[in-house]
Amino acid sequence: MIGPSGDRNTDPRITSGTFFPLAPHPTMLLMSSPGGLFRPYDKLVKIKLLDREVEVPENNMVLRALQFLAIEGVAYGRFCWNEECQYCRIVYDTGEGTKKHTALACKMLVKEGIRIQEISTELKYCLRDLKIGKCGPTEAVEGMQD
Ligand code: FES
Repeated sequence: MIGPSGDRNTDPRITSGTFFPLAPHPTMLLMSSPGGLFRPYDKLVKIKLLDREVEVPENNMVLRALQFLAIEGVAYGRFCWNEECQYCRIVYDTGEGTKKHTALACKMLVKEGIRIQEISTELKYCLRDLKIGKCGPTEAVEGMQD
C-alpha cells in the first residue's frame, strides 16, 4: 500500500484513511506483567504486617513481598532497591518474646512467621491503600526522613 505522503506502508492493519491502534509490543506486555516482578515461588507464607496477618510469596525480599500486596503503591515509592536510600527500613521479630531487629526490606528475604512491627514513612505511604496499622507518626521507624 502507498500512503498519502507516498511512503510505502507494509503493515496490513493500516489502510489509507483508517486508524487501527497497533497492538503493544510483546516486551511491553512482559514489563507490565506483575508476574515478572517476583522471584519464582511455590507458595505464599504468612507474616504479620503491623496489625494484620498477610500472605506473601516465599523466596522474595520483604520489599518485593510487600509489593505483592500493593503492586502500584510500592512501584511508585522512592525506593532504590539496593541499600542506599534506607526508605525501606523495617523493625521485625520472629515471634512472641524474641528480639527486635532492624532491617532493610530490600535486602532481607521474607520468612514465614516474621512480625513486622514498624515500617518507614515511605513504606507506610506506599501501603496506605491496605489500611493497615495506625497512621500516626509514632509507627514510622525512628531516624527516617520524609
Ligand atoms: S530500597 Fe533503598 S535501601 Fe532498601
